Formats: sequence, structure tokens, C-alpha cells
Amino acid sequence: MSNDITLVLGATGNTVRRVTARLRLRDTPVRAASRSSRTPFDWSHPAGWDQVLRDVTTAYVVPPPVPGPVHDFVARAEAAGVRRLVLLSGHGADDWGDSAFGLDMRSAEDAVRGSALEWTILRASDFAQNFDGHPFRTPPAAGEPALPAGAVPEPFIDLEDVADVAAAVLSEPGQHAGRVCELTGPRGLTWAEAVELISRASGLPIVYRRVCPAEYTATLVQEGWGQSEAQHLAEMFVLLERGTAAWTSDDVATVLGLRAADLRGLRPAGHGSGSPAVLSPAGLGLACRAPGSGAPHAIPHIHITC
Ligand SMILES: NC(=O)c1ccc[n+]([C@@H]2O[C@H](COP(=O)([O-])OP(=O)(O)OC[C@H]3O[C@@H](n4cnc5c(N)ncnc54)[C@H](OP(=O)(O)O)[C@@H]3O)[C@@H](O)[C@H]2O)c1
Repeated sequence: MSNDITLVLGATGNTVRRVTARLRLRDTPVRAASRSSRTPFDWSHPAGWDQVLRDVTTAYVVPPPVPGPVHDFVARAEAAGVRRLVLLSGHGADDWGDSAFGLDMRSAEDAVRGSALEWTILRASDFAQNFDGHPFRTPPAAGEPALPAGAVPEPFIDLEDVADVAAAVLSEPGQHAGRVCELTGPRGLTWAEAVELISRASGLPIVYRRVCPAEYTATLVQEGWGQSEAQHLAEMFVLLERGTAAWTSDDVATVLGLRAADLRGLRPAGHGSGSPAVLSPAGLGLACRAPGSGAPHAIPHIHITC
């Protein structure tokens, strides 16, 4: 068995599934762990962490929704002989003030920076693929995404870009040590503009509705979320509304040598896909509900092109 394993946490999640696939294509020995994966890992059960950390040299740390125990995990990783940590965090985390959401993310960053290990922090803006499901499709009833976000633009990033950067950084020891990479799309769009683009590309009449944070929290709780998790997510929107994370960065291009994909390039399949202009070959596979219909309509093969 290899004693040079890359551990990726959040194995079944949207970001990490993509990272794992890329690492395996590079023949990197990967251990993918989460509560429901073949290698079990639970942030709330530290007794199992040492087993998961055995023979690991590099760890991709994707914090839990409320990232409390990252300090403890980092200490265990050091004791287990891990040499490098790559942390997934949020875009512009320096400016998140003293909100619980900001403090939690900063605490996870502090844990990694304060360790004796080589570290890199990847700070991603909101994923374009969030529109494909949890958490942003959960509350929107039929064809009407309802979020507490107004006129402040968000530089949505394609998850394929986040995964490409993470796989590159995880595979290149020493090259990204001590760096904080701000991963954004190339331009900001308001949430209403993003929904309009998705509606146009899909041909479905999806209309954005702005709600207040309290209504959003209440809807999430109705959908089965815990109160504190719902408040945590609503708080993220309150922070975004301050506009301090609306700026864009070239860090995707710096790491990959390729421009980040642009949500403005959403095209239905057959309209530009496969052309040299396609930056990200992966379809968003967006799904949404048409007004008046309970059933979700899958919209396959929407591509982001430049
Ligand atoms: N969404 C965004 O726009 C965005 C932007 C920037 C940064 N981020 C960060 O990206 C991270 C993950 O995003 P994602 O979209 O990949 O999330 P996701 O698809 O919801 O996946 C979350 C992953 O965490 C695992 N998990 C949940 N609770 C756990 C626990 N108690 N112990 C161990 N594993 C647990 C889940 O698997 P199991 O259920 O099998 O445990 C799943 O693999 C979050 O930390 C988020 O803050 C997100």
C-alpha cells in the first residue's frame, strides 16, 4: 500500500467529487472520505480521524458547514505526519468582519496558517453550480428562486475551475506554499442576472425573487434545515450584500494558465459546445421547476463558453 496518500474530505460533495476524479486521472493515490463514503470520516467524531490520516502526506480540507473542529483536525494531521494542507474557504474572507459566518471561515484559515505544515488556501466565490440544487434550489418554489440577494454582483465561479485549481495545487508540492488563491469567475453578475441567463439558456420561465434574510431562513427551516445552519447560510448573503466580496481575481489563470469560465457564456447544447470557444466542457446539468409544475425539469448539457 502507498504511504503517500492524498486525503480529500467532503468526498461525496460537489467540489470534491470533481477533485478526486482529476487526482485519479493523474494516478495520485487518493483516500476520499465523508460520513457516507467507503472511508468514513465525521467532523463530529474525532475518534475516527487517526485511522483516516494514516499514511497521508497531503490533505484537502473541506470544512464542515459550521467549521468548528478544524483546529483539532490540523493538530491531529501534524501528529500523523501529514506534510501539506490545502483548505477550501470563501472569496474575500479577510473582509467578513465579526459575523459568525466570517469568524468560522477565518478560524478554519487560522488553523491551517498556524500549523507547521506547508499550506495553501483556496478562497472560492459562489459556485455557478449552486443553481443546480442545494442550497439555492431548495427554497425556490416552482420556477422562482428566492434569495436574500439584491443588486450586488457576485463573480460566480464554475466548479470545474475550482476542481482544476485544487487538483493542480494538490499535485504540485512546494509550488503554492503559503499562498491564498482567490478563485472567482471573470465578472460579477447579480443573482437576478444569473437567473435570467439560466432562464434564457434553458428556455424555461424562471424568475428571480428577492426575499429578506428572515424569510429565507424560515423557508430553509421549513425545508428541513436546522435553525443554526439556515441562519449561517442567510448570514453569508448578508455579508455578500455589503459588496466586499464582489471583486474579481485572476488567480484561476495564474494557477492554470487558462481564464476562468464565464456564466455569461451559458449556451444550450448544440450552440457553441464543442467549438474551440468552450472553456469548460462540463455541462452544468441545471435543473429547475417550471412555474405551476411540481416536477423538476432537468436541463442537460448547458455549457459555459467564453
Ligand atoms: N457553495 C459555494 O458556493 C461555496 C463557495 C466557497 C466555498 N464553499 C465551501 O465548499 C465546501 C463544500 O461545498 P460543496 O458544494 O462540495 O458541499 P456539498 O456538496 O454540500 O458537500 C458537503 C460534503 O461534506 C460532507 N459532510 C457534511 N457534513 C459532514 C460531517 N459532519 N462530517 C464529515 N463530512 C461531512 C458531505 O458528505 P457526507 O454527507 O457523506 O458526510 C459532503 O461530501 C463548504 O465548506 C463551503 O463552505 C462553498
